[in-house]
Amino acid sequence: MRNVAVIGSQWGDEGKGKIVDWLSSRADVVVRFQGGHNAGHTLVIDGVEYKLSLMPSGIVRPGKMSLIGNGVVVDPFAFFREMEILQEKGVEIMPDNLRIAENANLILPVHQAVDKALEAARGKGLIGTTGRGIGPTYEDKVARRGIRLCDLAYPEYLREKLERLMIHHNALLKGLGADVFTIEDLYDGLMGIADRLLPFKGVVWKILDGAISDKKKILFEGAQGTMLDVDHGTYPYVTSSNTVAAQAATGSGIGAGSVGYVLGITKAYTTRVGAGPFPTEQDNPTGELLGQRGREFGTVTGRKRRCGWFDAVQVRQASAISGIGGFALTKLDILDAFDEIRICVAYELNGKQIDYLPSSPVEQAALTPVYETLPGWTSETSGMRSWDAFPQNAVRYIRRIEELTGVRVALVSTSPERDDTILIEDPFGE
Ligand code: GDP
Ligand code: IMO
Ligand code: MG
Repeated sequence: MRNVAVIGSQWGDEGKGKIVDWLSSRADVVVRFQGGHNAGHTLVIDGVEYKLSLMPSGIVRPGKMSLIGNGVVVDPFAFFREMEILQEKGVEIMPDNLRIAENANLILPVHQAVDKALEAARGKGLIGTTGRGIGPTYEDKVARRGIRLCDLAYPEYLREKLERLMIHHNALLKGLGADVFTIEDLYDGLMGIADRLLPFKGVVWKILDGAISDKKKILFEGAQGTMLDVDHGTYPYVTSSNTVAAQAATGSGIGAGSVGYVLGITKAYTTRVGAGPFPTEQDNPTGELLGQRGREFGTVTGRKRRCGWFDAVQVRQASAISGIGGFALTKLDILDAFDEIRICVAYELNGKQIDYLPSSPVEQAALTPVYETLPGWTSETSGMRSWDAFPQNAVRYIRRIEELTGVRVALVSTSPERDDTILIEDPFGE
């Protein structure tokens, strides 16, 4: 038995939420360890859709402990909005089954204003952030001026911290020509929710330490994807956190050895939201068809996702960086309509073939993908629950992905529905 970390192996939206929900039937604890409500994880359970942004995807299952780790940036107002929507759908959310790390940093309304003002000022260099204040909040954390959940219990201390924080942010907002914030507005806003929020405060590292001692199964739920990692992704077109599997330890407060098996959620093609390099992008009818069949619109911002072919070079790199032990291959059914399917097997840069994604944005923009073409299966895999009945060419496509990346496919997902999932190799090792 081992713990499992679920992470995205591409640019996000690989189907992490669906797989975490499916796996959580056998986990005791589900923990988010980075990102915030920039994430959008959609679950479909018996035809009912649940959209989660900040809540761990285990929240929909009664009897599971959900944790929001110190590595997550928490917008307390968005937290309650999401909680109310879920409660209306009958999901129980109480301090008994959900805790937020006392040392998690809070996203304040000013962070969202700064996020938006900075994006507006970037002009052509726009990143296309979700506008949720993620970047500015992580900046404050690293600069040691962040407001943390534990600060809400000490109003005088909180006010002093806000005063120091706003010297920085109001100067920035003024410089960007945006409206400034008063300390009173921020303070009153936080004090207005403190009594409701503080009961959810927990010592997450200690809860996890106890869970490990009690031999409970922990599922770590990543947000975004490896190519959006602030170190290893397509910087600067990335999010502001580490999204790789190693962050599961740092962002929740456990030892690196307790992370266990790393399951890389991998879409059978590629998508990306926002700006930045995307070597296999198909800005043509092929991309349109992928987007239309795959309903590729962002959960958080409603933006159209850019679509392209599977990039084995990129996924191999993500697998190495995150130590991916197996893939959950999702959305294979979207390829059911294609006569031919392409896979990127190398890149060409200045006339030479290379087998990795270089770090320079100048080089990334100059890459030409080298493709291999495989025959499609042009029959329906959608909703299939048995591996034996799979069309031969679909199996061939999966095997080729395994060969090119050196990683085995452990799960195959064939529709948004929870149970349309085929288990090949058990991530928990049971
Ligand atoms: P996440 O951010 O990684 O959790 O992924 P999103 O939820 O943002 O995007 C994945 C979308 O694809 C969601 O709408 C899922 O319901 C859907 N989905 C997940 N797996 C499959 C699959 O195997 N087939 C199809 N057709 N849709 C899927
Ligand atoms: P899930 O968990 C896809 C992208 C944004 C933007 C960049 C930076 O659903 O896979 P940010 O607001 O984080 O500063 O934006 O990162 N981005 C995502 N793209 N899926 C996500 O999450 C994303 N979260 C952020 O579009 O390009
Ligand atoms: Mg998503």
